[in-house]
Amino acid sequence: MYKTLKEVTQTAEELNMTIGAFNAHNLEMMPEMIRAAKEMGSPIIIQTSIDTAKYIGYPVVVAVARALADNEMVDVVLHLDHAKDFDEIKAAIDAGYSSVMFDGSALPFKENIAKTKAVVSYAHNRGVSVEGEIGTIGGTEEGISVPLDEEMYTQPGDAVQFVKETGVDALAVAIGTNHGQFKSKTDVKIPLLRSIHEKVAIPLVVHGGTGVKEEDYPELINNGIRKFNVGTELLVGWTQEAIDCFGATEVNKSLRHNIIPANMKVKETVKHKIGLFMNLAEPMNVGRTPDE
Ligand code: 13P
Repeated sequence: MYKTLKEVTQTAEELNMTIGAFNAHNLEMMPEMIRAAKEMGSPIIIQTSIDTAKYIGYPVVVAVARALADNEMVDVVLHLDHAKDFDEIKAAIDAGYSSVMFDGSALPFKENIAKTKAVVSYAHNRGVSVEGEIGTIGGTEEGISVPLDEEMYTQPGDAVQFVKETGVDALAVAIGTNHGQFKSKTDVKIPLLRSIHEKVAIPLVVHGGTGVKEEDYPELINNGIRKFNVGTELLVGWTQEAIDCFGATEVNKSLRHNIIPANMKVKETVKHKIGLFMNLAEPMNVGRTPDE
């Protein structure tokens, strides 16, 4: 069934698991992501950036996500990732996205609260969930991440005020993860997450999941992470497989032969991650050294 973020994170809370939120960059990836969730018996969050949503068309993404949820009988949330523009958030909600993220983390704290609150009001009136963010989640290029100052991490006191004043359904926390970190792994600040979780009752969200050590997943789940974003690992897997296949193809061969292996690579990774998110599988990157 087509679900909201609030509904699936509630299930995750009851089962002490986390729900994988996987970034789709094209329509091709979506069916195998959802079939992976079906095979694992888990809900799934499919998220798109604004640019991907515009490339495909908001109503088309919604139609595909809804049809797959119904046909495959999987609980699917369709979430807009990192939106900073209210007009785009409205476009997603009006088209039928069941969840949106307003990312006001770069704004002054008070302005972030005010703007997030306006998004929550628009979304909740239409039955749509909202994820907010405070603190600064790092970015990584080529495996090198710039360390953040202590005050750029999510401060537990700010989290309390933000959640109380905005009414968000989930909160993205800055706890040492970086977007796009795929050549190395980060040291997640578990004690900081624990102190946020002790003070804030709503589901917490980890961004930059590709750069998180799989051996850290249980601690993250035990400390309130109920939405776990993974993007780059899928993108890199899809692209690498596509490069290999297209590089060796004949020009008049059906595209299927080159795209299906890339989709199956995504499916394999999604299944592995969901297994860990449900506490069913063994971590793969234990003891991995940076930049391996
Ligand atoms: P990665 O691409 O680093 O896995 O992060 C995904 C994410 O957090 C999307 O918001």
